[in-house]
Amino acid sequence: MLMTTCTPFRSTLLLALAVGCAATIGAVQQGHAAHTRTPARSSAFARMEASRGGAMPRAARKVIIAGAPASGKGTQCELIKSQLGLVHLSTGDMLRAAVQAGTKVGLAAKEYMDGGKLVPDEVIIDLVRERLAQPDCEANGWLLDGFPRTAVQAAALRAAQIEPDLVLYLNVPDSMLIERVVGRRLDPETGRIYHLTFDPPPSDVVPRMTHRSDDTAEKAQVRLSQFHEHLGAILAAYQSVTVEIDGTRGKQDVFASISRVLEGSAIAA
Ligand code: AP5
Repeated sequence: MLMTTCTPFRSTLLLALAVGCAATIGAVQQGHAAHTRTPARSSAFARMEASRGGAMPRAARKVIIAGAPASGKGTQCELIKSQLGLVHLSTGDMLRAAVQAGTKVGLAAKEYMDGGKLVPDEVIIDLVRERLAQPDCEANGWLLDGFPRTAVQAAALRAAQIEPDLVLYLNVPDSMLIERVVGRRLDPETGRIYHLTFDPPPSDVVPRMTHRSDDTAEKAQVRLSQFHEHLGAILAAYQSVTVEIDGTRGKQDVFASISRVLEGSAIAA
């Protein structure tokens, strides 16, 4: 049974697991939803529980959100950020800003992004490492959206001793994603993400809405194939802290599941 279909719970994830409300943890890297915890996950949580002496857990402060293009990462990050105050770092947004500003990183990234391909690891890794070292991330915690996307990027984080408390993997089948991609619109003033069908913008926003240049069905196919090529490596790198979320439901239902995981996620003191 998926965690996302469980009866609501607000206690620790350990408790949820113990009562059989099993999260899709661990075995997701095998390419299917095993919906069970791994021994590694179990013992990690047991250690955390012991280190906290049974006290109520603190919410995760270092979170990675992973998922296919248009799986809802940015949408959920808006909600998570408002709930937990984490610093939201979207590598897609950072790269688009660099392209617009015409920086060295932007110039290096542009042709890859235009083609729907991943930018080279060396272009993005330093950008992220430097950003995570800023005081606001240290003080407030961070929510890393769209990074790491390759084994090399995950290894670079590990080498820098940057480890997430939790990895949320938003699982949405490819068949749903193209429609989400082509219908996405953005409000450039607020950064808010909309969808023409699933989350229509208010009338005053409509005239200024923008459409990403890589949000075509053709480029989305390239982005999807890149995603699938690297997904296994990312899930394997974070097997012990990954929770799979069923991202096919409405955004508030998805967020309700994420909230439960975040509230219940324990971190070692
Ligand atoms: P990036 O901007 O990160 O694109 P992406 O991963 O393809 O993800 P998206 O932003 O497309 O989707 P999302 O999951 O955030 O979905 P959203 O919430 O907007 O990266 C762009 C490019 O930058 C890459 O192609 C690459 O070139 C480069 N890049 C970035 N990071 C990199 C890295 N680490 N390494 C190398 N290259 C990198 O939702 C999508 C739509 O669906 C919206 O319209 C929304 O309203 C709607 N929606 C959301 N949730 C729901 C729901 N539950 N039900 C119905 N509709 C929903």
